[in-house]
Amino acid sequence: MIVITGADGFVGRHIVARLAAEGERPRAMVRGPERARRVLPANGVELAQGDTTRPETLDAALDGAETVIHCAFVVANRKQGPGVSYYATNVRGTKNLVAAAKRAGVRRIVVMGGLGTKPSRRDAYLQGRYEADEAIRQSGLAWSIIAPSVQFGPGSPFIVGLADLIRSMPVVPMIGSGGRTFQPIWVEDVVTCTLKMAREPDRYDGRTIEVGGPEIITYAHLLDLLMRTMRVKKLKLPGPVPFARIGAGMMELALPRPPITRAAIGLFTFDNVTDRDAVERNFGFQPMSLRDYLAQHGVA
Ligand SMILES: NC(=O)c1ccc[n+]([C@@H]2O[C@H](COP(=O)([O-])OP(=O)(O)OC[C@H]3O[C@@H](n4cnc5c(N)ncnc54)[C@H](OP(=O)(O)O)[C@@H]3O)[C@@H](O)[C@H]2O)c1
Repeated sequence: MIVITGADGFVGRHIVARLAAEGERPRAMVRGPERARRVLPANGVELAQGDTTRPETLDAALDGAETVIHCAFVVANRKQGPGVSYYATNVRGTKNLVAAAKRAGVRRIVVMGGLGTKPSRRDAYLQGRYEADEAIRQSGLAWSIIAPSVQFGPGSPFIVGLADLIRSMPVVPMIGSGGRTFQPIWVEDVVTCTLKMAREPDRYDGRTIEVGGPEIITYAHLLDLLMRTMRVKKLKLPGPVPFARIGAGMMELALPRPPITRAAIGLFTFDNVTDRDAVERNFGFQPMSLRDYLAQHGVA
C-alpha cells in the first residue's frame, strides 16, 4: 500500500488521482479533510490525517504502508508565519516522517524534491531542502529522490502565479534581467517518473534523479509565451535581485498570500535546468512540451 504525504497539494493530488485511476487504493495523508474532499477522487482513496510536525499523528497514517511518496513540504512560494515554517516542516517534519516510517515497517520512501537543491549558507530555504534530502539518504530506508524543474499542469502554482502577475500588473516585473533558465515539466510526466521510482526498486533505489521537460526557456521568454497564450501584451520590467528581495519582503509583511517571497527569489539566482534528455534517458519516454500543452489547455 502506498501512502502519499502532502496528498492534497498540487503534485500530491495528481499522484493520488493516477494511483486511484490505476485501481490501487492509495492512502492520502492530509492535514485537514476539507480541501482533500474537494480535490481528490471521491472513490478508491483512503484519507488519513497526519501532520509531519506532530509525530503523534503519523503512526496511524502510516500503519500497514509499504511505500511512502513524500510531497509534504512548505514550498518557497509560501511565506513563513505562525504555524508555517520551512525548517519545522521540511527538515524536522521529514525526520519525524522517517522515524514513524521505520516504526511502521515502511520499506521504501520516494521524495518529491526540487532541482538545484544544494547546501546553501545564504538561503535558509534551500539549505533546509538539502538537509531534508540528506535525512532521507541517511534514513536506513530504501529511498529515491526525484528533483524536477518547475512543473506545469492544471492548478500549477508556478504558471498560475505568473499568469496572475501578468493579469494584475500594468508592467510585468522580472527578477534580474529575466535571463535565468527553466525547464518546465508536465506534472503528469513527473507522476509517471515518480511511480516508476516507487515500483522499480532495482533500477531507482538510492538515486537522486533530476528531471525537466524538453524545452529550456529563459524567464523572459516564458513570460512572453504566457502573454501570447493569454493574448495580452505588456512591458516586462527588469528588477535587480536585491531590489526584488526587498519588494518580496514588503509583500510578505503586507499580504497573507504574497505573489512572491524572499525564499522564492532565492530560486531565481541559478539556472533551474538539467539534461534535455533526462526523462527519456532515465525513464524511457518523451515528456510533454510546455508550448504544446499551453496551445491545447491555456494557462489554467
Ligand atoms: N509545483 C512545482 O512546480 C514544483 C516543482 C518542482 C518540485 N516541486 C516539489 O514538489 C513538492 C510538492 O510541491 P507542491 O507544488 O505540490 O506544493 P503544495 O501544493 O504547497 O503542496 C504541499 C503539500 O504539503 C502539505 N503540507 C505542508 N506542511 C505539512 C505538514 N507539516 N504535514 C503534512 N502536510 C504538510 C500541504 O498541506 P497544507 O496546505 O495543509 O499545508 C500540501 O498538501 C515539494 O517538495 C516541491 O518542492 C514542486
